[in-house]
Amino acid sequence: MNIPDKIIILDFGSQYTQLIARKVRECGVYAEIHPFNISKQALLSFGPKGIILSGGPSSVYGKGSPHPSFDVTRLDVPVLGICYGLQLLAYHRNGEVDSAAHREYGKAGLEIEFHDGIFKGVSQKTQVWMSHGDALKVPPDGFEVIAKTGNSPIAAIRSEDRKIYGVQFHPEVHHTPEGRIMLENFVRDICGCAGNWNAASFIETSIEAIRKTVGKDDIICALSGGVDSTVAAVLLHEAIGDRLHCIHIDSGVMRTGESKTIYDLFKKHYHIPIEVIEGQETFLGRLAGVSDPEKKRKIIGKAFIDLFEEAAINMKGIKWLAQGTLYPDVIESVSVKGPSATIKSHHNVGGLPEKMNLKILEPFRELFKDEVRAVGRELGVPEWFVDRHPFPGPGLAIRILGDISEERLDILRKADDIYLEEIRKAGLYNDIWQAFAVLLPVKSVGVMGDERTYEYTCALRAVTSVDGMTADWFHMPHEGLAKMSNRIINEVRGINRVVYDISSKPPATIEWE
Ligand code: XMP
Repeated sequence: MNIPDKIIILDFGSQYTQLIARKVRECGVYAEIHPFNISKQALLSFGPKGIILSGGPSSVYGKGSPHPSFDVTRLDVPVLGICYGLQLLAYHRNGEVDSAAHREYGKAGLEIEFHDGIFKGVSQKTQVWMSHGDALKVPPDGFEVIAKTGNSPIAAIRSEDRKIYGVQFHPEVHHTPEGRIMLENFVRDICGCAGNWNAASFIETSIEAIRKTVGKDDIICALSGGVDSTVAAVLLHEAIGDRLHCIHIDSGVMRTGESKTIYDLFKKHYHIPIEVIEGQETFLGRLAGVSDPEKKRKIIGKAFIDLFEEAAINMKGIKWLAQGTLYPDVIESVSVKGPSATIKSHHNVGGLPEKMNLKILEPFRELFKDEVRAVGRELGVPEWFVDRHPFPGPGLAIRILGDISEERLDILRKADDIYLEEIRKAGLYNDIWQAFAVLLPVKSVGVMGDERTYEYTCALRAVTSVDGMTADWFHMPHEGLAKMSNRIINEVRGINRVVYDISSKPPATIEWE
């Protein structure tokens, strides 16, 4: 089996830690984030080819600041310290960190002294992104200064054997245009990683790992209609064939044709057996008269579990439940910051029914969304499916504010169809992370022909985002908005007013409930 070279990133709480992993992976090298307090034994058990120390908001001398329980500079593995990580190098090797003198935020001009090591191929003067309160005053023992900025005379250092580097700036962010070259130099040249990690090698390794893990057992997989669970199922089918049992629950709060699309994709395109459970009555019955967003989410979560359990109990001998959990979900719970506050419950529909006693299989727990899309493409999942916008488990129930009824679902489905059709026609679908219509429980007065109307308001939402954690509203061209509004009001009975949502996340969220 082809085991990929691994870079371990120790997280000291920087807002950019995930970005470091992303950038390293873009260099074709597999990178994984672990909390700073991982034990030395656990760290070495991964056989890392290199270690990157992330930045972080603390001061290395500060009370309670994050410190590994061992000296990372003495593991005989190349190290790159970024910002706080650089200061940790100094802390371990008698350097001096100055807490007050050199606060620096934003773009800075970096002047490079030596054009080898991490700076091979980088311009002599290059822009970098600084974001630090503390700065190095004296380099650590056995290190030399290799770059400076106007405000930081020690902006980058390297050890005598040139296996340990430290940079005050953030090579991982967009505002350090040559940062990618520096990271690539580190992981490829200094750590010696082969750079052959990609979707195809991931698939090969995963198939072997899945076969080894489950042996002759059967696996059940709940297909939500989303990209992650779909690609997971296709991968699992490659690995274990018809010992994979797929279930799709039609919740009745899906978009137009959603359940048919997923059924056709599996049954007709892949010839993978799939059982569709008609859950509409259960879901809509339990949701009747409920308008509180959290209650809706909880009811839907419970209904999914109940129906799933009912279906799975009839399938004898299943030992595993496969889920499309992604890396951002996993690291959120291991980050030094601890689990983030619950804003909305139940983001991962398909929680495990306890009494079924199934073991969990998560083939994508190491991947980011765009990496899952690449795996999907490699497995031949059609492009139009792979590029679909994310769709939440609770579906249209959290896009109809207030009570849910068949009538309101019908109104929203029609408006949403028109909205997405116009976005596609304008060639904007792939520029947007997620776009959808929301039905507001607000009626207002309008006039159609010569008649007064008193109908619902429809809000249109479109956002750009990298991972859904933060988002900006999409600057939709006005001609497009005019057309969408016009068509929705004219073609959807029940809506006489359309508004466009211009809120970013934070402080708003992407979904309205
Ligand atoms: P929010 O609304 O929290 O959403 O800004 C962030 C992203 O998560 C999706 N989302 C969900 N996905 N189950 C899911 O599978 C859920 O309960 C859920 N709630 C929100 C949302 O569509 C956006 O992409």
